[in-house]
Amino acid sequence: MSGLQLKNIVKRFGDVTVVKNLDLDIREGEFMVLLGESGCGKSTTLRIIAGLEEATEGQIFIDSRDVTNLHPMDRDIAMVFQNYALYPHMDVAKNMSFSLRIAGCPANEIKEKVAAAAKILNIEHLLSRKPKELSGGQRQRVAIGRAIVREPKVFLFDEPLSNLDAKLRSHMRAELAVLHQRLGKTTVYVTHDQIEAMTLASRIVIFDKGQIQQVGTPTEVFNRPANIFVAGFIGVPTMNMLDATCVTQNGRTMLHGAGFEWAAPDWLSGVSLQPGQALTLGIRPQALHTGTAHANRLSLQTQVVEYLGTESQLAGTMLGHSALRFSAIVPGDAKASLGSEVPLSFEPNELHVFDRNTGLSLRP
Ligand SMILES: Nc1ncnc2c1ncn2[C@@H]1O[C@H](COP(=O)(O)OP(=O)(O)OP(=O)(O)O)[C@@H](O)[C@H]1O
Ligand SMILES: [Mg+2]
Repeated sequence: MSGLQLKNIVKRFGDVTVVKNLDLDIREGEFMVLLGESGCGKSTTLRIIAGLEEATEGQIFIDSRDVTNLHPMDRDIAMVFQNYALYPHMDVAKNMSFSLRIAGCPANEIKEKVAAAAKILNIEHLLSRKPKELSGGQRQRVAIGRAIVREPKVFLFDEPLSNLDAKLRSHMRAELAVLHQRLGKTTVYVTHDQIEAMTLASRIVIFDKGQIQQVGTPTEVFNRPANIFVAGFIGVPTMNMLDATCVTQNGRTMLHGAGFEWAAPDWLSGVSLQPGQALTLGIRPQALHTGTAHANRLSLQTQVVEYLGTESQLAGTMLGHSALRFSAIVPGDAKASLGSEVPLSFEPNELHVFDRNTGLSLRP
C-alpha cells in the first residue's frame, strides 16, 4: 500500500509512555493533521516518522517500505520546523539547495530545482539574500522551499506557522493549501490550532495524552465527535454539555435533566439504553436559536454579551440552574442585553448524546 502507515507505535521516555499503541493509515496525497493540546505527543510522533526519534515499539512504512530502522536521510521525507532552522551565513539559494549539494546533485539540476521551488513560493527575488534580511513569512517560505527541492515522498510540518503574526499566519495557511493542491504530496502537519486543522486537513487525527481519540474529516470530527473529549475540543465556543438520563413517555424518548426535558434525536430510538443510564448531552452554541420556534427550549440568563458584528456570542447560565453554564451564537441584531433572559430553542437532532461513564458517543 502506498502512503504512510504507523503500526502500533509506542514511545517511552524512561518509564513515561508519551505515545500509546498508535495505528494510523495515511493515504497517498493526503493532508493529515495531528491536532492536540501541548504535550500530547504530536511532535514526538512526527519526529518518529522523520527518524529523528526512535520508536520504542512498532513499525513505520512509507510507500509499503519498512523505514523503521532507516536513517532520516534515507526515508524520502522532508521536514519543516516551527523555528525554520535556516543557516544564517548562507543566502536563500544556498539554504534551499543545501541538501541537494550534500547529496551530490549536479549543479545545473540544483539550479533548476531551486528556481522552480522559488517560483512556486514567490521568492525568486530573494534568492541572494541572507535569512536575517527576510521577514518571518519569507523565512518560512524558504524553509518550505528547502523541503520542496528535495521532492520527497512525504512532507512533515511541525507547527510551521506559529511564529508568525495572526495576519501572516492566515495568509500562509492559504498558501499551504494551494501548495498542497499543486504538489499533491502526502503531508503530515502538526498543530494545536484547530482553525489550521479544520481548514487544511483532508483528515484530522485528534490526540490526547499520546492516544488517538478520533480520525476523521473536518466535517466528521465537528458533526460526529466520537467521544466527549473530541466534542469539547473541536468547535469555538466549546460545545455545551449537560448531564441527563433517558425516560420514555407515551412511547416517546425524552431526555431529562436538572431544569429541562427535551425530545431526543431521532437516531436515539434505535439505541438500546439501560434504564437510568447516565448520559451527557452536547449542543453546539451555533445550534441554539433565539425564540421558541424549535421543539427543545431553554432560557438563558445572560452574563456576557459579545457583539461581533454579524453575530453575537451570549454566555450565561440556564434560568433557575446557576450551575449550568451555557453559550449561544445568535444573529448580531438579536436583542440580548446583559442580565436579561433570552429564550432559546433548538432541533432535537442537533443533540449529541454520550455515555457519561465511557465518554463515547451513542450515535451508531
Ligand atoms: N527527550 C524527551 N525526554 C523526556 N520526555 C520527553 C522528551 N521529549 C518529549 N518528552 C515528553 O513527551 C511528551 C510529548 O511531547 P511532545 O513534544 O511530543 O508534545 P507536543 O504534543 O508536540 O506538545 P507541544 O504542542 O507543546 O509542542 C511531553 O510530556 C514531553 O515533556
Ligand atoms: Mg510539539
